[in-house]
Amino acid sequence: MKRTHHCAQLTTANLGETVSLIGWVDSIRDHGGIIFIDLRDRKGITQVKFDPQDNAELGSRAAQLKVESVIEIAGKVVTRPAGTTNSALPTGEIEVNATELVVHNISDTPPFPLDDAGGDKVNEDLRLTYRYLDLRRPKMRKNLQVRHKAAKAIRDYFDSQEFIEVETPALFKSTPEGAREYLVPSRIHAGQFYALSQSPQQFKQILMVAGVERYFQIARCFRDEDLRADRQMEFTQVDVEASFIDREGIYALFEGMLKKVWKDVLDVDLPTPFPRMPFIEAMNRYGVDKPDVRFGLELVDLTSTFTNSSFKVFQSTAASGGSIKALNAKGLADLTQGEIKNLEEVAKSLGAKGLAFIKVEGGEWKSPIVKFFSDAEKAELTQKLGIEEGDMVFFAAATWEKACAILGRIRLESAALLQKRGKLTIRPDDWKFLWVVDFPLMSYDEAENRYVATHHPFTAPVPEDAALLDSDPKKVRGQHYDVVLNGMELGGGSIRIHQPALQKKVFEDVLKIPQDVVESRFGYMLKAFTYGAPPHGGIAFGLDRMVALLCGTTSIRDVIAFPKTQKGQDLMAQSPTPVTAKQLKELHIQTVIPE
Ligand code: AMO
Ligand code: AMP
Repeated sequence: MKRTHHCAQLTTANLGETVSLIGWVDSIRDHGGIIFIDLRDRKGITQVKFDPQDNAELGSRAAQLKVESVIEIAGKVVTRPAGTTNSALPTGEIEVNATELVVHNISDTPPFPLDDAGGDKVNEDLRLTYRYLDLRRPKMRKNLQVRHKAAKAIRDYFDSQEFIEVETPALFKSTPEGAREYLVPSRIHAGQFYALSQSPQQFKQILMVAGVERYFQIARCFRDEDLRADRQMEFTQVDVEASFIDREGIYALFEGMLKKVWKDVLDVDLPTPFPRMPFIEAMNRYGVDKPDVRFGLELVDLTSTFTNSSFKVFQSTAASGGSIKALNAKGLADLTQGEIKNLEEVAKSLGAKGLAFIKVEGGEWKSPIVKFFSDAEKAELTQKLGIEEGDMVFFAAATWEKACAILGRIRLESAALLQKRGKLTIRPDDWKFLWVVDFPLMSYDEAENRYVATHHPFTAPVPEDAALLDSDPKKVRGQHYDVVLNGMELGGGSIRIHQPALQKKVFEDVLKIPQDVVESRFGYMLKAFTYGAPPHGGIAFGLDRMVALLCGTTSIRDVIAFPKTQKGQDLMAQSPTPVTAKQLKELHIQTVIPE
């Protein structure tokens, strides 16, 4: 079973040679008894001809083949007859006149077509059930290759910067302050559990104490989160930590990595340095901390306009310290009732009481609320929002955070509606990177009635704000940064706390974690910091998200060989599954299945 060439290799340069090829039957055509097979391997396709006039037995065996069967052929390379060449294929000018055929496996009829277009049309569950067939599609094969190339570029880059890759455990301990964890029962220690590592965060900091200085890892992480297009329970981070580095050092290091990845994978030269935007500005202008800056439709603050308004909804929001924000979806006045209703539902799902709007049509403001506005208010709206014929303006009146979140989402929905109408073009290859910086170190969790870390509790405060930790934690900015690309959070990290006293203070005094809990969860880390902990910082990138963007897809499931569904299932191997009573007993586990 030795092939002389792969299926994208033969050209007119090989005319007259006797070759052998092996692969899958991509298609079979019968032209008046002559059988043409497109033979496919991972590199491409070559046309193979079985002429019954040359060999009747071979011809009849070829006629019985089915698509996706695995065969091996030998034959002579000949030119295709004039008019039958295919300039779209590298092998499009030749074909192989088969003289031998070995059939390795006859395929059943696949449950869906394995070309890109056919596969894209079927239900994703079917593709995931037959993932081994789905991965044969050219698009999916390419996605796996892009992922490999990106990972290689990353390893080469960090190696060139004298970082070393160190593996850290997947079986870790349960720690609070993060996403929900997967627990693994211990057989040896009855009633005790490991947790699968959500990220190598604590280990990479310990590696800094261990003097490694420059660490990276392409690491598998596990989080029991609700799954979405950009979230899997098991995903991959490009995880990095360095000693004696500041924020500027991290920015330069990561811009260098991204530059290399984009060059190696797409042959695109990314301009650096990336722009930086404070968190507050991102929220005020785009309503999110991961703004898609490829298009405008920016939010406008109108709180001062409505402080004394006779429209009570807005006036009372302003009076109670809330915000009134608006966005002009330019050219979207042709929204249908149904589309407006949908947008209102979206706003309500984010806690909005309503979604007031002004539709500018035929020189008139059509709106359920303008009757309450004074002429001065209307003039100010026109000026601040640049209102013109054909525009659609949306309003949100709520707390600042909520008003931002609501309109941030409406902005994205509006952009999608404008794109659908051909009034806005957002190109997936318009690479708009930015660093979002100056996040608050802490945010207040109303439900838990305490501060929680915005990034994680190891993040260092901005030095000039550290004094506010006792008096006004909300005002303290963290040395935290996120890399955002086209509306997706690609990565995030921070400069860390390396002084044990400050770390203890953050755990106990600010986050109000009881002292005994701090000791049992993080005691080992605090102790490590007392033995010469260097100043350090780092970042982690979602490899799946980055590869998805490189491949031009929005779902990370398309760039993971064997992903889980939104419901956390592996449809191919069928997991999760019940286990035997014996297994449970060994693990000292009893299960209670809810009704
Ligand atoms: P963070 O939790 O922000 O930081 O994660 C870093 C990056 O990992 C990706 N990511 C995910 N990708 C797919 N599915 C998920 N469920 C998922 N969750 C996160 C995102 C995100 O930006 N230890 C810190 C980093 C640090 O401080 O160095 C951390 O894990 O792209
Ligand atoms: P109402 O006075 O409740 O009938 O609301 C009048 C209009 O304002 C309706 O179109 C509502 O959807 C909208 N609306 C009500 N509350 C808010 C709010 N907090 N933010 C934005 N629009 C609102």
